[in-house]
Amino acid sequence: MNAVNLQVNLGGLVMKNPVTVASGTFGYGAEYDQYFDVSRLGAVTVKSLTLKPRAGNKPPRIFETPAGMLNAIGLQNVGLDAYLADKLPFLREKNCTIIANIYGYGPDEYAELARRLEAEGGADAIEANLSCPNVHDARHARGGTLVSQSPEKVLEYTRAIKSATKLPVFIKLSPNVADIAAPALAAQEGGADAVSLINTLLGMDIDPETRRPRLGNIVGGLSGPAIRPVAVKMVWDACRALDIPVLGMGGIASTGDALQFLLAGARAVAVGCMSFRQPDAALKIIEGLEEYCIRQGITDINDLVGAVRI
Ligand SMILES: Cc1cc2nc3c(=O)[nH]c(=O)nc-3n(C[C@H](O)[C@H](O)[C@H](O)COP(=O)(O)O)c2cc1C
Repeated sequence: MNAVNLQVNLGGLVMKNPVTVASGTFGYGAEYDQYFDVSRLGAVTVKSLTLKPRAGNKPPRIFETPAGMLNAIGLQNVGLDAYLADKLPFLREKNCTIIANIYGYGPDEYAELARRLEAEGGADAIEANLSCPNVHDARHARGGTLVSQSPEKVLEYTRAIKSATKLPVFIKLSPNVADIAAPALAAQEGGADAVSLINTLLGMDIDPETRRPRLGNIVGGLSGPAIRPVAVKMVWDACRALDIPVLGMGGIASTGDALQFLLAGARAVAVGCMSFRQPDAALKIIEGLEEYCIRQGITDINDLVGAVRI
């Protein structure tokens, strides 16, 4: 029997512990099952799903940077039909809690993805990626915008998704904004059950010898420990503005990192690219959270949420 209650409720999604994995860093779950029993996770968050399969961007698509990595995968994924037919059965057989991350071209596609995922039992919650920096190829180098950079669009998209499903809906936001509270509040106004943050920070790296960008897409998204303090601060900012809960992520590599996000106000956390370096990182963090609670005499992990001492 657990001496510590690790269960959390993230906007209507009951998770047996507050740790999931970040979309795009954990495949569809089965890829990691050789390293640990993935049903131990509070939830498995799958790679962004689109209506049709996507091949992604031209290589190179990943470049290691100091304390992090740049990626411009471009939402390579199997598409909704293949997810439902080939990937979902494993997750259901293992009794995993599933957060299905979705990406669409316009609010109608997001709504369609959410509707079909609910109808076909493909998710326990929807996370709408309104913040992928890598899907319009080089356009961002020329000043394109992400949906989540416009509070008006966040409101419109959130309403469309919410009207299509009764599943909990999480809106995933970009850190590439001046004030994270603005899109977060727009998501809340649109009926979101939680917000997820942060997605990657836009970045660029150039090889001085060839004078070429390191990524085929020219620019990409920065993730890893380098972005953690930015992410903690944005979670803190968002939590002070919102009534709905926050799923915090960005550079989490250890139990201590995960605790920082909870203390800043996140109800749950996601481990991202650390799983590339240490495939069972999320499991170690779950175990570490329980040990921390026992050591600190805390019987309910929810008591840590927002408990930073200022
Ligand atoms: C290789 C890679 C692929 C990613 N793909 C997605 C994706 O498909 N959808 C999405 O919402 N976020 C995607 N992300 C962003 C992560 O989910 C996460 O928000 C971000 O990496 C910050 O967490 P981290 O620093 O712990 O990796 C991706 C990140 C990486 C590194």
